[in-house]
Amino acid sequence: ASGLRAYASASGGLPPRKVAVLGAAGGIGQPLSLLMKLSPYVSELALYDIAGTPGVAADVSHINSKAAVKGYAGEDQLGEALKGADVVIIPAGVPRKPGMTRDDLFKINAGIVKALVEACGKHCPKVRAASSQAGTDACSWRLFVEVQVTESLPCNTQADWSLPSLMAVVQALLNIISNPVNSTVPIAAETLKRLGVYDEKRVLGVTTLDVVRAKTFYAEKAGLDVSKVDVPVVGGHAGVTILPLFSQAVPNAANKLNDADIDALTKRTQDGGTEVVQAKAGKGSATLSMAYAGALFADACLRGLNGDPDVVECTYVASTITDAPFFSSKVKLGKNGVEQIFGLGELSAYEAEGLKALMPELRQSIQKGEDFALEKQ
Ligand code: NAI
Repeated sequence: ASGLRAYASASGGLPPRKVAVLGAAGGIGQPLSLLMKLSPYVSELALYDIAGTPGVAADVSHINSKAAVKGYAGEDQLGEALKGADVVIIPAGVPRKPGMTRDDLFKINAGIVKALVEACGKHCPKVRAASSQAGTDACSWRLFVEVQVTESLPCNTQADWSLPSLMAVVQALLNIISNPVNSTVPIAAETLKRLGVYDEKRVLGVTTLDVVRAKTFYAEKAGLDVSKVDVPVVGGHAGVTILPLFSQAVPNAANKLNDADIDALTKRTQDGGTEVVQAKAGKGSATLSMAYAGALFADACLRGLNGDPDVVECTYVASTITDAPFFSSKVKLGKNGVEQIFGLGELSAYEAEGLKALMPELRQSIQKGEDFALEKQ
């Protein structure tokens, strides 16, 4: 408890940061909002859902930590919730029930994510570049694209900003939790492209729970101190597309684990979500461990934005390290989001097989998301 209190009050000297949680009244949203209220990196916390957020916000706001909390309910309050956000976390949508795959959620969640990301594109872009060509001034440009520019622009007739040379990008880092992540991230990317505000450095699929699980299961099996364990998890976030790289785990426990152990650990990590869905027997999927993982990842994004060096997390992003356009691997997070995407390193023969096996499903899920966003289905 004292560690938690110290964490929540260790905010001295940090820049102000606004975090918005979309789906904040849900199973993940509520504990995630609680954890973000405790984060020393957050000064303003906007809790949005279709309903129920005034209650969640009132409850969370009584905690004596730095962040000012406000609840927003219903679509007409979404813009205000998003305005000026540095990080937008999206756990909105329906969770799995026993017997369902993450892809079974596509029909409902694809539309939810598309609509919410569209709102992010409209309400939190900023101007990234401008030239000195004479032309349309900033005010008319602003009216033309109907977006709210969060950086101050010279709003007078002398302004020499011109429409073709202005580039708007979504300002906030989008942390996408809603499943199927393998498709919802491509949906988010295509949606922002259509609005002309896409920045591939700022759209991140949250796969941290796979890493959290891999660390826990590995430490347990190898008898290691879990706080000192690291396991990269690459690929995607569904079944076989989740590929833990135990050959690169730190510390290396190769002398304690045989091939059968690694196979069992890999399968348990891949099926970790299903383990929880079945144990909850119809009452949803992972919420508490997901809230923890989501808060870890959002904190990492905020530390990167604040200029902390060496913030490295596995996350599912636009990537060229394989021939799939989106892929999860170790990524360095910085002042503009994704700063560097690391390659896969040396894989064991078992992991190389796993990589080969996951690619078709991953590509298919990406295509499905892109087709949806482009209204091809
Ligand atoms: P839940 O049903 O408890 O909560 C979802 C919340 O989203 C509800 O409060 C609902 O009102 C809200 N919502 C629905 N439509 C919305 C909209 N248009 N705008 C704003 N809010 C909206 O579900 P739970 O358990 O919190 O899961 C949420 C999502 O997270 C699911 O898609 C689930 O599959 C996914 N998930 C992802 C994980 C990951 O590792 N990335 C792990 C576990 C779950």
